[in-house]
Amino acid sequence: MKTKAVLDQLGGEAAFTYLARAKELASRGVKIFNFGIGQPDIPTFNHIIDAAKEALDSRFTGYTETVGIYELREALSTHLNSRYGCDVKPSEIVVTPGAKCALFLSIAAYLREGDEIIVPEPSFPAYPEIAKFLGAKPVYVPLKWLGRECGFKLDIDAIERSISSKTKMIVINNPHNPTGALFSSSEVEQIIEIARKKNVMILSDEIYDHFVYDDAGFKSFLSFPDWRDYIVYVNGFSKTYSMTGWRLGYIVARREVIPKLSVLAVNVYSCATSFVQKAAISALQKSENDIKKMIEIFKKRRDLMCSKLSNINGLEVWASKGAFYVFPNISRILKECRVDVEKFVNHLLMNYGVVVLPGTAFPDKFGKDFLRLSFATDLTTIDEGINKMGECVNNLMSGKDIIS
Ligand SMILES: Cc1ncc(COP(=O)(O)O)c(C=O)c1O
Repeated sequence: MKTKAVLDQLGGEAAFTYLARAKELASRGVKIFNFGIGQPDIPTFNHIIDAAKEALDSRFTGYTETVGIYELREALSTHLNSRYGCDVKPSEIVVTPGAKCALFLSIAAYLREGDEIIVPEPSFPAYPEIAKFLGAKPVYVPLKWLGRECGFKLDIDAIERSISSKTKMIVINNPHNPTGALFSSSEVEQIIEIARKKNVMILSDEIYDHFVYDDAGFKSFLSFPDWRDYIVYVNGFSKTYSMTGWRLGYIVARREVIPKLSVLAVNVYSCATSFVQKAAISALQKSENDIKKMIEIFKKRRDLMCSKLSNINGLEVWASKGAFYVFPNISRILKECRVDVEKFVNHLLMNYGVVVLPGTAFPDKFGKDFLRLSFATDLTTIDEGINKMGECVNNLMSGKDIIS
């Protein structure tokens, strides 16, 4: 029996493929330096685990409301309103099993066959894949790469020019995976202005909203008084609370859309895991200090990773301002060694045990000259792993090693 053609064309997420490959190598005794997957290594905070245990002990184990338990939606609205002054109501929230699921529901709610969605690239792969799955067309708009001093910016004019009569949505992920960019208040304001002018929705994925460095200042799309008219907001617990395996995310959208999202949700997953929802309330209410400590740790990791990468001959490195990724430009090395980025990444993994992702894992084409490294790992791994990477590059550039 054949799978449906649309599934045959669905792309996956390379981070998971490389994770499996690294695990397989590690099981054969190879020492691995993993900068591949975007997952905080810090354990879920204790008070969250305690709250989940308490919920289990009290046998809170049945189905819940599809949109999520009221207590959690209330805690989410309090949390968002105190952060962004936005007056989100519990009735404007849908809780989902992970932010990816929230992305699927949000895109499905707005896109029909033949519609277009503007995707700044390089992009988290789920946005264009979900759109294609629904018969819609991703229209890619490359970010501007301004080099090691200024990093990555949205190309506002190109985004505006790309809007056609078929455009329904613009996706903005801020802080940005994979580049580590933090789009400024001014860029965010210009994007919502385009949405107002052209009457299109913005899908705002703010899952890295706490991962901001150097007091760079983060502007949420929820902070605009007219957010209800233009924003579908997605966030989740995976990164901020180190809860990747717990699977919990949520959508904020204007009230009229919620019943539609809820119908799709009930057909797909009925509800998010009951006791995880209870634990999430504790996450929202008691994590301030844990998050602060985590961000301080991540900043040190970013500093170390960026300074070490900058010492590798041929890499052009911009110190990311958000999320937990560095996206160095490797074009000089690729050119001199006459290889593509995927071959380089494979060589680095198989011969040096260092896992990084090729920029091409983030559609569409922008990433062919870049690598993505996650610094969600300890300082020793960063120190030793980037030394290994330097060794690999030196051996290639000096002709000691070749990639066939
Ligand atoms: C930009 C972005 N959005 C969404 C997600 C999905 O997060 P979750 O684990 O909640 O599904 C990720 C995870 O890597 C991400 O990087």
